[in-house]
Amino acid sequence: MITVRPELPGDEDAIRQVNLLAFGRDVEGKLVDLIRGSRFFVPGLSMVAVDDGNIVGHILLSAAMLINSNDAMPILTLAPMSVIPEYQGRGIGTRMIECAVKRAENSQFPAIVVLGHSEYYPRFGFVKASDKGILSPFSVPDEVYMVLELMPNALDNITGTVRYPPCFADV
Ligand SMILES: CC(C)(COP(=O)(O)OP(=O)(O)OC[C@H]1O[C@@H](n2cnc3c(N)ncnc32)[C@H](O)[C@@H]1OP(=O)(O)O)[C@@H](O)C(=O)NCCC(=O)NCCS
Repeated sequence: MITVRPELPGDEDAIRQVNLLAFGRDVEGKLVDLIRGSRFFVPGLSMVAVDDGNIVGHILLSAAMLINSNDAMPILTLAPMSVIPEYQGRGIGTRMIECAVKRAENSQFPAIVVLGHSEYYPRFGFVKASDKGILSPFSVPDEVYMVLELMPNALDNITGTVRYPPCFADV
């Protein structure tokens, strides 16, 4: 049976390995390590999927900033998310997103942004970020940058461009 829980001390190597297997490169695992060592890490919002004691999936929500001409406010970013190939397509990604969103609803953050598959994230309630006045700092197709409000109307009267922590540029 798959369980989803927050990462614990000692999970670091397994999380790195899951990211390596899912992405086929070490960039995402390094990013997780850098974020974990930074002030942008949010304890409890790095979660793992476990099967029979083995970590087979990982999801990270961490802090970024939403910047506009008047203000700068924290926002969560979902990146990266990984399930090892043999376990993909069995609903583990879905379970991890649902668990992480539930926990994030109890945080002080208004919303989660994600840069990802435009056919995958809308099923969890993510919408095109630009429709909410939230812009990506990256030059990407509009539909792949999405946002999920963590409570109704959380982004009313809030607009801006997301600024990612420096570690995103360091990998
Ligand atoms: C994306 C990922 C985390 C999903 O985990 P998962 O456990 O396979 O997800 P689930 O079983 O809950 O959902 C599977 C769905 O995801 C969809 N999906 C997976 N990868 C996708 C992709 N690249 N583009 C669009 N949809 C994708 C599948 O089509 C499937 O859709 P369906 O339910 O309509 O059949 C996993 O496929 C993975 O690790 N991929 C490689 C790393 C990656 O791309 N991470 C996401 C970065 S944004």
